[in-house]
Amino acid sequence: MIYVTRKEHFNAAHKVYRPDWTDEKNQAVFGKCANPNWHGHNYDLFVTVKGMPSAETGFVMDIKQLSNLINDEVIKHIDHKNLNLDVPFLKDKIPSTENLAIAIWQRLFDKIAQHNCTLHAIKLYETERNFVEYFGN
Ligand code: NI
Repeated sequence: MIYVTRKEHFNAAHKVYRPDWTDEKNQAVFGKCANPNWHGHNYDLFVTVKGMPSAETGFVMDIKQLSNLINDEVIKHIDHKNLNLDVPFLKDKIPSTENLAIAIWQRLFDKIAQHNCTLHAIKLYETERNFVEYFGN
């Protein structure tokens, strides 16, 4: 099995908070990410697919097609957007890096399966030092 990864980038604003909590509790749990007037992150997204190379092309998946798919299904919906307000597939979710990674997985899994390979992992960096990984369960 070969694992192929495409890196993409986007930036977005968010506020991580619960409206049913006080400002003090939001601040205590979510820290700077609870800032009432939003803030942004420069996210790096790594999408890894797995499969065996095609006998015809030598590719597990054409990386340009993978890039186009990530852009069409994910990046254009969230880049330069407010994750709390502008993104239908995040509606009613706390826009943590964890929830964003799961939502991205759900957007991509079936589309990638149409290319004779399987989505293996979503790795999402919110900052240089903080990232999450999701493997589908
Ligand atoms: Ni934040």
